[in-house]
Amino acid sequence: MNNTKDTYNNKDKNRDKNPESSKNRKHDISNMEQEKRLDREYQKKIIERKKKFLEDLKTEDGVFDSRTLLSLYGLLSGKHIEEFVGTINSGKESIVFSAVNKKRYLAVKVYRVSTCDFKTMWKYIQGDPRFHLRKSSTRQIIHAWVEKEFRNLKRANNYVNSPKALLRRENILLMELICDDNGVPSPRLKDAPSDIDYKSIFKIIREDLKTLYNDAEIVHGDLSEYNILIKENMPYYIDFSQGVVIQHPLSKSLLIRDVKNICSFFKRKGISWDYDRLYKYITGENLNPIDEELSKNY
Ligand SMILES: Nc1ncnc2c1ncn2[C@@H]1O[C@H](COP(=O)(O)OP(=O)(O)OP(=O)(O)O)[C@@H](O)[C@H]1O
Ligand SMILES: [Mg+2]
Repeated sequence: MNNTKDTYNNKDKNRDKNPESSKNRKHDISNMEQEKRLDREYQKKIIERKKKFLEDLKTEDGVFDSRTLLSLYGLLSGKHIEEFVGTINSGKESIVFSAVNKKRYLAVKVYRVSTCDFKTMWKYIQGDPRFHLRKSSTRQIIHAWVEKEFRNLKRANNYVNSPKALLRRENILLMELICDDNGVPSPRLKDAPSDIDYKSIFKIIREDLKTLYNDAEIVHGDLSEYNILIKENMPYYIDFSQGVVIQHPLSKSLLIRDVKNICSFFKRKGISWDYDRLYKYITGENLNPIDEELSKNY
């Protein structure tokens, strides 16, 4: 027993005498110190980011519940977001922030749990074959709503210009920001500079709607000049929260509403296409008056 111990101790002593291993040990210690220092710096940075984030939120007047704040902190410390840049839009049901991560511009859409119209949300989710929620809490409905928007956006990403869907967590959706090279968000079709080529944009929208219906098999459900952004004379579709798969009982009525909005906007820009003509162009079918009647209720 003793022998073993002695051998070990001798070995240890010898190791101390060996200049190579002592150098290695010093190297290990300095590596560890450096790692600790980096950890401390990272920690400090996170705390600074949280502080700045809280400062920014003050202008939003305490709109977020503590669970939402925790999820947002989680995104900051989980390396999904480096910094929140500012608020792009503060609506009744959601706030959209711009943020940065690894030189990439992001949009963070946060649903306000307290003011969401979950009764309407419920109607849309109920008929969707992708969801099987029975009686649910408000929070569960909002989570399903975000999940639905995320899935619709992911589907749309494969077919038309739309912000890349990156992540969803509870009531938060993280996606690509549609913006210029400096991170300035692109304007909505409604606010786009008046010298844009409306004729060519209408033609692209017409084709995109056909593709969304026939190939992606979804209907946007809330399409208008408010939910289309213009970047380099091209339309980008956002806000797929009300989107439904074409198998949804409301899909045709929602499509009628979409084409009506699009046709009435472009009519004001001198492009005359009747909405029933656009409907037929997209679906290949004549518009059914019952679907049209139903569309007035949503
Ligand atoms: N990915 C994005 N890139 C650039 N801007 C965006 C993006 N997503 C949203 N926005 C901006 O934020 C606004 C609101 O986003 P969105 O339409 O998804 O939310 P909303 O719930 O409809 O809000 P509101 O009810 O106020 O219209 C958009 O009109 C657009 O200006
Ligand atoms: Mg919108």
